Amino acid sequence: MRTVHTIKELRAVIRSYRNQGKRVGLVPTMGNLHEGHLALIRRAREASDVVVTSIFVNPMQFGAGEDLEAYPRTLAEDQRKLEQEGNALLFAPTVREIYSAGLALQTQVVVPEVSEGHCGASRPGHFTGVATVVTMLFNMVQPDVAVFGEKDYQQLAVIRKMTRDLFMPVDVIGLPTIREADGLAMSSRNGYLSADERRKAPAIHRVMTETGAALAGGSDDFAGLEASARENLATEGFRPDYFNIVNSFTLKPAEPGDRELTILAAAFLGTTRLIDNLSIVR
Ligand code: PAF
Repeated sequence: MRTVHTIKELRAVIRSYRNQGKRVGLVPTMGNLHEGHLALIRRAREASDVVVTSIFVNPMQFGAGEDLEAYPRTLAEDQRKLEQEGNALLFAPTVREIYSAGLALQTQVVVPEVSEGHCGASRPGHFTGVATVVTMLFNMVQPDVAVFGEKDYQQLAVIRKMTRDLFMPVDVIGLPTIREADGLAMSSRNGYLSADERRKAPAIHRVMTETGAALAGGSDDFAGLEASARENLATEGFRPDYFNIVNSFTLKPAEPGDRELTILAAAFLGTTRLIDNLSIVR
């Protein structure tokens, strides 16, 4: 596997793939790769001839006081894992390579509506940072397909809308969340949890599953279910950020006629913010 750090090198390698008639798959990541990321790479391999993975801890999507500095950076270990998965090319640029004029002067991609609410409300500017860097990566790599995890449900909705609205010639594939044996969604941020917090963490999935069962059973008492889920999470030691039952397509509050519902949740355990989601068809 080859690793490149500059856009110039990246473009030269991509050009050689194109000259060989290869279909290119892209997996954008922030590194600290776990089984969830490796599943994305396997899916990209199925859908393309060569997989390009990017590792870039994107400062534009972190707010003041968030974990930009603390975010785990494990390049050598990530390279080893990518090599084993048959990833063809790793693009690992510096912040200066991506934002050469500085963040303040960066052209931004704003995706309305679907970026609002949920994580968009708790992390102002986050999805603009995500949409901007993903646009840049799409333009640099010009992939045929790009694979993202459904764990970041709102992020995936933002990227799908952006791709559609801006006529980007990329097929966006979403992959179901990969979970630990006890139900906790895999995330690089799980590494921040103390042993005690790690024991409590699966409760977020458990509470969502209980709420999902009530929804599947026909309950339309969305506000009541959300309130009792927040209470249950607090009892389990979480500080809930949001617990919202939404229409799976619009991400707007669920209405009684909706058949496809998604529960979107974010909650803190100590200083670690965990997110998860669960979709129900009824
Ligand atoms: O999901 C992530 O890891 C990031 O938000 C992404 C898509 C790589 C953009 O920085």
